[in-house]
Amino acid sequence: MKSSDIRKSFIEFFQQKDHKFIRSAPVVPIGDPTLLFTNAGMNQFKPIFLDESKPDHSRAVNSQKCIRVSGKHNDLEEVGIDTFHHTFFEMLGNWSFGDYYKSEAIKWSWELLTEVWGLDKNRLWVTVYKDDKEAYDLWLNNTDIKKGRVLWFGKKENFWEMGETGPCGPCSEIHYYMGDDLFNQSKEGVNRTDEYWELWNLVFIQNERLADGSLINLSQSHVDTGAGLERITSVIQGKASNYETDLFQPIIKELESSSDCKYADNPVPFQVIADHIRMLCFSIADGALPSNEGRGYVLRRILRRASRFGRVLKLEKPFLHKIVPTVCNLMGDAYPELKEKSTHIKLVIGTEETLFNQTLDRGITHLEKLMSSLKSSKTILGSDAFKLYDTYGFPLDLTELIAREKNIDVDVEGFHLEMTKQKDKARQAGNFKLKEKNIDWIELLKEKGSEFVGYEYLETNSRVLKYSEIEEGFILVLDKTPFYPESGGQVGDRGTISIEGIDLNVIDVQNHNDMIIHLCRGVVLDWSKVERVQCVVSDFHRSSVKRNHTATHLLHAALKKELGDQVQQAGSLVHPNYLRFDLTYFEKITGDQIRKIENIVNSQILLNSTLKTSIKAYDEAINSGVVALFGEKYGDNVRVVSTGKFSNELCGGTHVNSTGDIGLFKITEESSLASGVRRIVAVTGTAAIELFQNQADLIFNMQRMLNCKEEELPNRIGQLYQDKKSLEKKIKELNQSDDSDIISWVNKASKVGDYIFVIELLSIEGADELKRVGDRLISEIKSGIGVLFNNVNDKPSAVVVVSEDLVRKKINAGILAKEIGSFMGGGGGGKPQLATAGGRQFGAVEKAIISTEKLILKVLNKEL
Ligand code: ALA
Repeated sequence: MKSSDIRKSFIEFFQQKDHKFIRSAPVVPIGDPTLLFTNAGMNQFKPIFLDESKPDHSRAVNSQKCIRVSGKHNDLEEVGIDTFHHTFFEMLGNWSFGDYYKSEAIKWSWELLTEVWGLDKNRLWVTVYKDDKEAYDLWLNNTDIKKGRVLWFGKKENFWEMGETGPCGPCSEIHYYMGDDLFNQSKEGVNRTDEYWELWNLVFIQNERLADGSLINLSQSHVDTGAGLERITSVIQGKASNYETDLFQPIIKELESSSDCKYADNPVPFQVIADHIRMLCFSIADGALPSNEGRGYVLRRILRRASRFGRVLKLEKPFLHKIVPTVCNLMGDAYPELKEKSTHIKLVIGTEETLFNQTLDRGITHLEKLMSSLKSSKTILGSDAFKLYDTYGFPLDLTELIAREKNIDVDVEGFHLEMTKQKDKARQAGNFKLKEKNIDWIELLKEKGSEFVGYEYLETNSRVLKYSEIEEGFILVLDKTPFYPESGGQVGDRGTISIEGIDLNVIDVQNHNDMIIHLCRGVVLDWSKVERVQCVVSDFHRSSVKRNHTATHLLHAALKKELGDQVQQAGSLVHPNYLRFDLTYFEKITGDQIRKIENIVNSQILLNSTLKTSIKAYDEAINSGVVALFGEKYGDNVRVVSTGKFSNELCGGTHVNSTGDIGLFKITEESSLASGVRRIVAVTGTAAIELFQNQADLIFNMQRMLNCKEEELPNRIGQLYQDKKSLEKKIKELNQSDDSDIISWVNKASKVGDYIFVIELLSIEGADELKRVGDRLISEIKSGIGVLFNNVNDKPSAVVVVSEDLVRKKINAGILAKEIGSFMGGGGGGKPQLATAGGRQFGAVEKAIISTEKLILKVLNKEL
């Protein structure tokens, strides 16, 4: 049986039992800050278990794309070494939302495994939670499993929890003996040795773990199961390793053909690469990108690990991107996003591994230097390892790996300390972000609510369901609200909520597990009196946001038109003042292209097309070519926003009535965000008009300053620039000619013994320039004194310089300057080597020169 048939038969088995097929959620989760990647089939159903949203159907089945990069079995360093743990895997699951419970879950899993798939009952083992006698009895009564094969285990093995908090409950696992000898099995091996593989986990969700560690009962009991497709495929296909199944073999074969190595000779590098490339393809298809932070850093580490193992196979050049088409073809029928995004995935991986190859070479040189400089300590400092990471993008595990080969340790703790320090520094005083753990809700009305009515209304009279007081003010959940919560890149609405006659500002609105949460500034004195509140969304804020949101759709379509269909949205921010759009594109967008894109958008604005929103079935929408965004999770019915034929996107945001309402569109910035990702910033409406007005003012002011017409500005500025350059050249030449004067003064200078003295009268503009000439003079007078008089506009001054040897003999330019100043009716002073004098009397210079000559002769004669 092929893996694709196994996946299909699982789904069909449960569909026949009235389960509804639900598409896999993206591996990059949306709306759950507690998760880095989707790690179980139940993630998308968490709000249902927690009573925060209602399911459309009480039974569901799917095959979920999962990523696990940490956890008890998923230490990244182990993946690929063993044959049955993965970073990416598919979890087959069936769910009951308050419908059937343990009995059916147990019966059906056994039926599928043993009757439909024909697994050998003599290899199957089952575990149940120590307090779950009900499950134990059901296994014995509902199935034909032998008694000795049902085993009790404790909390660690058989109480499943999603994470630190969230839905949880006792579970029952089905394990399979993988060994050769049926008679060598024993219950001691289950959960202890790798010969027994866990195939399927049936979780009986009945509790919720709260942030304080306590466990509460949920209002209903649910079933949540998860079976690993890769392992089941191994078992059904009779393979000892997941990598030998048809889920991995085509990838491994492709690798064999691009390297000169054989999988059979050295399986580990093949396994690591085959595992990692799947994880990379799936996460990039869902919108993740390699980066230095969070999720992106996980991708980067995994890509680098795969790339390093490539070197073991003598693959020195970038090779990972070449396997992308194989992965996309192999998995693309079950997950069409892979086929759609394959060009993008290939580009992202190719660029990243090329960069990493360069990094590897540079980093290795630096690391080798670092290691050879270590004296007795034999430990690389945490700060050095961090520098390697920070400057060369060298991952810690790579530093460790290379260091280990030379018996050198790395101070891992120190590394993490540096990392934390950097993050603290970078952390901005960010927006209010909801942290599930911190909220102490006070419930006023026990109702489900949070209905968004803001497409039609900007004002409502609403009832308060719950509230909580927090540092910034308080947060509120209402039965219905006109406030749009931040989502899909669109910022939340702003406005006021009037409570007991006082208008309180709404400073943020967020969606959390299907609840719309309003953050308000201010205090409410007596909550017990609060029943109804008056909500008013700021029309100004909403209108600005609407213009930018519709313009974002037009921009997206225009980019595809101008740059090609491979352009993908990689991020977006719809703000009242501007819009920001990140796109995957590998070159700078030229000025010409920007202008064309602006023209396309503005012509759509001029067409004044009416915006239409409609609710459609997801499949119908996608098949008709509507653009869905990366990593968004869409329900069965989706909202399509279209501006005639030009742009059709799935979107929940708020939009203008017709494109003409946008007014005007102008791109203000085009830059590189990361390799392969460009960022565009643009403005619309009043902000665009303001931009043009400011630019017009600027031009007008420049015209006034330069006294010319607008069209003459470039020439005029060019001319000024040329003039400046030629003047600078002239000054330089003049300075050089000064220098030739200095040399001639020294040559013709008078002498007293071996000392020379220079007295000259100059006419130089500016005291600084006079000093500069004085400075130059010292370096020419090896031994002696120089006095340069200056007389510009009848204002006499002088600079006095004394050579180093005379300074040592206590001849001080400062004292001389004071005296010379007095010859001109003024004063002077400065340093022993260089000082200045200034006079007040007109026509005093001539006399002062004579007196100075006498003074210098006297001084020098004394030194003979
Ligand atoms: N949610 C359960 C698991 O991940 C089925 O094992």
